[in-house]
Formats: sequence, structure tokens, C-alpha cells
Amino acid sequence: MIKIAVMGYGTIGSGVVKVLETNQDSICKKIGEGVEVKYILDLRDFEGDPVQSKVVHDYQTIAQDPEVSIVVESMGGVEPAYTFVKAMLEAGKSVTTSNKALVAAHGAKLIAAAKENNVNFMFEASVGGGIPIIRALNSCLTADRIEEITGIVNGTTNYILTKMAEEGCDFDEVLKDAQEKGYAEKDPTADIEGHDAGRKIAILTSLIAGQQVDFEDIHTEGISKITATDILYAKKMGRVIKLLASSTQTDDTYAVMTAPFLIPKDHPLYTVNGVFNAVFVRGNMLGDAMFYGSGAGSLPTASAVVADVVELAKHIGRHIELVWNPEKLEIADYRQQPARFFVRTAADRESVEKVFGTVEYIEVPQAAGETGFVTQEMKEEEYEKKAAELGNVVQMIRFH
Ligand code: HSE
Repeated sequence: MIKIAVMGYGTIGSGVVKVLETNQDSICKKIGEGVEVKYILDLRDFEGDPVQSKVVHDYQTIAQDPEVSIVVESMGGVEPAYTFVKAMLEAGKSVTTSNKALVAAHGAKLIAAAKENNVNFMFEASVGGGIPIIRALNSCLTADRIEEITGIVNGTTNYILTKMAEEGCDFDEVLKDAQEKGYAEKDPTADIEGHDAGRKIAILTSLIAGQQVDFEDIHTEGISKITATDILYAKKMGRVIKLLASSTQTDDTYAVMTAPFLIPKDHPLYTVNGVFNAVFVRGNMLGDAMFYGSGAGSLPTASAVVADVVELAKHIGRHIELVWNPEKLEIADYRQQPARFFVRTAADRESVEKVFGTVEYIEVPQAAGETGFVTQEMKEEEYEKKAAELGNVVQMIRFH
């Protein structure tokens, strides 16, 4: 019997216990033996809950128990998760986590600690919830050089943008509705300002580059400034606005950005709606591929965590090599990347053409009195200079 511990009995930790209970027979067949949750680490006692007898409050109880070979971390946040996970690896236990903040900040260090102790550190659920993207990148796509990886990796913002597009409502109204329905947190900052998606693309880029990419270096914009009028323009252009977390190979590094983009009908990400996530990957041999599914939620996320538990159980006593060098990757300057820009301005067409030259005008009757246009392709640095010269820019959204 494989004995495991679950640190953090919230949405995901309780989902892990449920998945292990519901699918215990098939999981047992796949590993060749059963899995028993010996401990649950939490600040709470869960009186009356069937797991009550397993609850402990001190992580050292788990670290010091030689019977426990695998630990699930589902507490969230960087600390104390980092201290606890590191202690588990040093005590010779393999760890799986769903915690993107922990992986983005300390993934390389924890992989190194796992290697030193001949155990494994896995984090399938940290990006895209139940979507198998991490294992796909690490094994199935490992023969490819990844030229682009672009994801809709935040369900909250995708729900809000989808609802704005379907109902023509403004951002604040939809956010309130999403909070009432439990699709958005009471404090939604990390989601709506793009930090959650930014951490996920930091992890994905670190994996494809094999080197540490710091979230703090990534240009990150959220969706809180997107309006119902922007959505009308998008429709007129036959596009949708999506929060994309994107990494594109450029020379020997990656250009990485999280921001709202206007994507065309023929892009696979165009139809990814509601709380769903999807990750589009372009490999130099594979060509285009897309991974789609539930990016959050108790059971989809727990399904990915338990898949890691099965993988960890099959590799007890053997470290699986995973290249994520702690040396920081200098990512490309986003201002040097070329793009086309959709712009809304109070300036007239004559002034627009004087500064931007030939542009494509977009008109929507609801925005009379302003000028909407799409630029030719240019570097972001050049766009910024021209926008400053033009003045009165009320919105800019990049084309993807
Ligand atoms: N807040 C995240 C989302 C949860 O909305 O997608 C999964 O990381």
C-alpha cells in the first residue's frame, strides 16, 4: 500500500481524496497496489468529517514518517508551501503540487532538491488544471523545439470576456455577476490583472526553454480596462478579445507576454469560451496542436494531481530527469516585437494618417465621435512613440 499525505484540505485537497476514493480500483490496477491517505495537514480540525482522524497540524509529523512516500501540496501561495515541500523532498518523499505561485517562484530549486534526494517533484495541475499540458511538453513533445505556446489559461477572465461578448455588458457588471456565481474570487485582482495567467506562462516558458523565467520579467496586462465598446469593435473585425498568455521563440530566447489580444475566427483559440482553458502549441516538427479542457475546479484539478501521484508511485526510488535550470533566462524585450495594433482615439482621421500613415479604419455606430483603426505591422516601441505623438488614445489592443 502506498501511503500519501495531503497538505491543504481545501477545494483541491478534498478533490484529491474524492478522486482517490471514487477511482480506487482503477488507480490500484495502474500502480499495482492501493493508495491510502495517511495524513491531511490543515489548520482546521474538520470535526465530524470522515477524514478527521487523519488531520495533523504539524508538517513535521509527515516529514518524519518513513511510511509516507508521496505528498500532495494543495495549500496555495509561496510560503509556507515552499518550506513544507522542500522539507518533504529532503525527507525522501516525492511531491506533486497544484500551486502555480510556488512552481513559478521555486520550480527550478524544487526540481534540484528532488534530484539530490532521488525523488520527484511534479506539478501537472499548476497550469491548465485538468489539461495535460506539462506532461505533454516534458515527454510527448520533447522531440520538438517549441516555437510558440499561447494559452487561455485563466477561467475567470475567459468567463468574463465570453459573457461580455455574448451579452454586450460592461466589465464591472459581468465581474459582479461572476463573483455572485462563484466564478470569480472576492478579491479578483490576480485573475483580472493577468497575474495568474502570467505565472502560468512563466512556468510553461521555463519548461520549453529549460531555464528559469521570472514572472516579474513578463509584460502583464489584465482585462479590467476592456469595455463593451471594445467588444463591438472586435465583432466588427470578426475577432474576439481573449486574455492570452503567450511565448514566442525569437533568436535564442522567448518573447513572453500576458495581455488581451484580438484573435481571428480561424485561430483554434477563437472558440474557447466560458471557464474553459486551452493551450495552443506550435512545434518545429509537430506543427500546430491544441490542448483543451477544464482549467480549474476541484475534480478536474484533482484528477491531474492524482495522475501525478500514480506517476510518482510508479517511480519510487528513481528520479525522472527534468530540465529546468535555475539560471535566469533573459526574455526578449516586448517593445522590439512586431504586431498590428487596434487603436481607439479622440483624434480625427487626418491626424491619425499624419502619424500612422496608412491604416484600416473600423467603424461602429455606438462609438461615433471617435476614430477606431488598425495599424500596419510595427514594433511595439514604434507604436508607443506614434501613440504618444497622436495623443488622445483611449484604447489599444494587439492583434494576434
Ligand atoms: N483562478 C484561476 C482561474 C484558477 O480562474 O483559472 C486556476 O488556476
